[in-house]
Parts: sequence; structure tokens; C-alpha cells
Amino acid sequence: MKIGKNIAVAKAALEAGELVAIPTETVYGLAANALDSKSVVKIFEAKNRPFFNPLIVHIGLAENLEELTNSKPAYVDKLIEEFWPGPLTLVLPKSNKVPDIVSGGLDTVAVRMPNHAMTLELLQSLNFPLAAPSANPFKYISPTTAEHVAAQMGDKVSYILDGGACKVGVESTIVKCLDDKILLLREGKIQAEEIEAFTGIKAEKVKTNNEKPEAPGMLSTHYAPNSKILIGNIADLIEKYSDKKLGILSFSEKYTAENILYQEILSSKENLSEAAANFFSALRNLDAAHVDLILAEYLPEEGIGRAVNDRLRRASTI
Ligand code: TXA
Ligand code: MG
Repeated sequence: MKIGKNIAVAKAALEAGELVAIPTETVYGLAANALDSKSVVKIFEAKNRPFFNPLIVHIGLAENLEELTNSKPAYVDKLIEEFWPGPLTLVLPKSNKVPDIVSGGLDTVAVRMPNHAMTLELLQSLNFPLAAPSANPFKYISPTTAEHVAAQMGDKVSYILDGGACKVGVESTIVKCLDDKILLLREGKIQAEEIEAFTGIKAEKVKTNNEKPEAPGMLSTHYAPNSKILIGNIADLIEKYSDKKLGILSFSEKYTAENILYQEILSSKENLSEAAANFFSALRNLDAAHVDLILAEYLPEEGIGRAVNDRLRRASTI
């Protein structure tokens, strides 16, 4: 059986240079020994991911950061204390220990300590950190259950460590830690305002630039299902597309129309955290329903709703 909860099996496979899917609080990762280029190459091959797109390095103890970076601004310790383990990735100047393939040739490295008991135990049992992007094929929807990974990457990994459904559901917030300011490269559960409050350092959002993205993975097309997604007022869109087989992705409301084939409601209680945790699964289910069009609406632009809206926008861009 390839899926299981056996940390020793995962450890042995990683030590042998193989790929293992690991649970985190955000999404499942496709992990390999971050300090071994030959193992890391397998991640890019399995995902069909371009080599310029760098990976996040996962560690089990805050002190493991030391070997990965050359220097860090003083405020970084405050961020670590407050948010690790948790969905915050720090981009810092990299040390020589980090292979270039991990950093995509950049002189920085992205590091985080995931908040998932099984994965923390695994990381603490290994004597190397784990490079891990989300365990989905390049540009497709991120996996939030072991079954999602099995469906798409099952033949590419030695083992899937099953840690249940991811509680946060969208990828970590990524910040680049400069001496005098913090650049928000990707939105997630942890907000720029919180980061500013804890550090007293200005955190600014970086606009996506497809020519030269700050975070090379932040292309405007991403998370894309096979069906086209339109975002707007769902009731109006249903009227407009009365001749199409529709899928609906709503925040809390149920819609009725004869041509609605499938519907996903992210949180009938209008709870943003619940909506985020359900988001990627909902997209997958809608994709599997083979509709002509998926009609969706934005969540309130606050808290983790912003991160979900960002993913929804990318999923709808063709
Ligand atoms: O929640 C998460 O962060 C998940 C779980 C598995 O930890 N991982 C994840 O990895 O989302 P991935 O590869 O799908 O996204 C990593 C992002 C990419 O957009 C990449 O360009 C950016 O991190 N990144 C990695 N290293 C970077 C660096 N040195 N400078 C700027 N961006 C970097
Ligand atoms: Mg990803």
C-alpha cells in the first residue's frame, strides 16, 4: 500500500533519495532531500515544473534555519517565534549548503516550518531538510488530501504520508525579508498587517509581473481546472449562460436552475477559514463534473479570503 501513516517508511524512502508526499497544514507537498540535487531533480521531473521555479525548504526545528541562510535581519526572529510552525515562508539570503536547483539559481532561499504533527516528526527524524512544492502537476490545482495526491501523482511518488485533510487549505504566505522592508510575495492565511504589527517593519505587497516575477512561481495562470471559470455575480451569470451546462462555486448561497449540473458551497455559515479549507477540493470536484462553464464569486476581501480570491483569479485566467 502506497498511502499510509508510517513515518518510518517515509523516512527510509527520503533517505534513499526518493520522493514522498507529505501533509502540511496548507496543502500536500512533494518532498525530497533538499541538500541533494539528484533527489531534488526528481521533483521537477514529476511535476513537469520549469527549473527556474524555486522550491520551499521545510525544516522541523527553527535552529535548522541557520545552516540554510548566511544572514537574516534581526526582526526575523520575532516572525519565527510568533508564526512557526505555521503557514509563513521566509525568503532569506541562501548559504552554500542550498543547491542551486532548490533556489532556481537565485541567491535567496525560501524556508518554512510546517504545522503538522506527522510532518514535524518526520522532519525532526531526518538529518536533512525537505524541499517540497505543492504535490500537483505544474499549473494544476493544489492537493489538500492524500487522495488528491494519489489521483494525480500516485505513480510518481514512493509513498504518500496520509495526514488527513489540510486544515488551512491554501498555500503559505511568502515574504521576502529585506533589511528595511518586507515584501509580500504570495498571500496566505497570515496577513501583511499581522506581520507589520509583530515586526514594526513595513510589509508591502508585490504586484505580479509575468515577465519577471519576484516569486517565480507566481504566474497569473495557475491552479487551473480544465473547465473555464467565470467570476462575477453568480445570479446574473446564470441568466446570461442559460444555454450552458453549469458548475457553481459559491461562498455560502445555493442557486437553482435547470442547467446547473454541479454546485459547491464553500461555507454555508460564511466562515472564511472553512471556505479556504474547502476551496481546492471544491475546484477539483467541479473539474470532475465536466461542465461547460464554472461560475464563481469572490469571497469577502478580508483575512484568508484575500488568499482564496488570489487563487480563484489565477484559476480563471486562461
Ligand atoms: O504552503 C506551502 O508553501 C506549500 C507547502 C507544501 O509547504 N508549498 C508550496 O510550494 O506552495 P510551491 O512550490 O507550490 O510554491 C512555492 C513558491 C513559488 O511561487 C516559488 O516561486 C516561490 O515559492 N519561491 C521559492 N523560493 C523562492 C525564492 N528564493 N525567492 C522568491 N520566491 C521563491
Ligand atoms: Mg504550487
